[in-house]
Amino acid sequence: MKVLVVAGARPNFMKVAPILRALEAAGHETVLVHTGQHYDTAMSDTFFEELGIKTPDYHLGVGTATHAVQTARIMEAFEPILMKVHPQWVVVVGDVNSTMATTLVASKLRTETHAHIAHVEAGLRSYDWRMPEEINRVITDRLADLLLTPSEDAAANLAAEGIPADKVTFVGNVMIDTLMLQLPVARAADTLERLGLRRRHYAAATLHRPSNVDDPAALAAVLEGLALVAESLPVVLPLHPRTLKNIERFHLGRMLTPLTVLEPLGYTQMLALTDGAQCVLTDSGGIQEETTALGIPCVTLREQTERPITITQGTNHMAPWPLTPRGILGAYADSVAAVAHATPPRPAGWDGHASERIVKALETHRPVRNYSAS
Ligand code: UD1
Repeated sequence: MKVLVVAGARPNFMKVAPILRALEAAGHETVLVHTGQHYDTAMSDTFFEELGIKTPDYHLGVGTATHAVQTARIMEAFEPILMKVHPQWVVVVGDVNSTMATTLVASKLRTETHAHIAHVEAGLRSYDWRMPEEINRVITDRLADLLLTPSEDAAANLAAEGIPADKVTFVGNVMIDTLMLQLPVARAADTLERLGLRRRHYAAATLHRPSNVDDPAALAAVLEGLALVAESLPVVLPLHPRTLKNIERFHLGRMLTPLTVLEPLGYTQMLALTDGAQCVLTDSGGIQEETTALGIPCVTLREQTERPITITQGTNHMAPWPLTPRGILGAYADSVAAVAHATPPRPAGWDGHASERIVKALETHRPVRNYSAS
């Protein structure tokens, strides 16, 4: 079986690594396409090195642009590659623009290439159409032939949208495959020592959502909230390039003074930072899942989450919305009080074997070819 796997942005890389490995272990041919949505060493290359991902067979080099231009560039560059590679499966992961753009292309070329599309991390919904990722999720799920869900709540979201159950397979959370493989490496490294941090005596924070960082007042409120937390323990903030650019643009640099600001971290260092933290404050999707898997208290700095299982079965707490400095401080205190750093039972399918179930699903799925229905 020939499988084309798409990766484009930082949160994709830890998902495609175990999928590629499991496909190759099962004797399948893999073709890796990197769209180049993320391109810096820190946002891309480091992950390939640390996670042992092969050099992409094709690199589209699209880079940063507006949503329309980035999506269009990916589509334009991907189309001839798909025509040339002629895979049986196109596997897309997550909810970034690369996921949706390549799904659109594969979907439109269906009758020519006969490639089927599988979406890994299907069925997550924030029900917030202001999030570009929500648009990407819904379109990708609507067009894919096989919807591989990470948690048991996802199937209900897909059913509510009228997606036939025979397109949906529960495989579990593939990001946790990478987490479980890399955790011993992260724990053996001296990341905390080099940063001058003591296990459980600091909080880690990440911030990059447009809703938090593209508006000066919103960004200032979150930074002030982190500064309040920093009055009782160090707050470490690896800065996403989008956030850094906006802090400079809005002249908010002085608000970073109470925080320990770092460059974006590679996978293993970020895992070490998360694993050693007393608490993590974040607007990331993946980190809500990683903290649940590790039993680390998490405060989510967003209005809603597409990963509610991290609240019902994990360590995640939503900060009160709209975000205020005091609200963030209160949510931090509540989350730390509620969790005792024991690794809780993980949600079903978060067991390090999702990639094997993904391969099995690709091998056994027989897509329904009824183009006029559903
Ligand atoms: C994208 C994803 C988001 C994901 C995030 C993780 C979409 C719609 N958004 O958002 O879901 O959570 O990645 O990072 O797909 N930049 C660099 N170097 C890079 C990449 C980006 O400096 O390698 C800068 C760009 O110049 C831009 C900013 O970071 O100003 C944002 O990059 P972009 O890819 O547009 O979106 P993200 O915010 O990273």
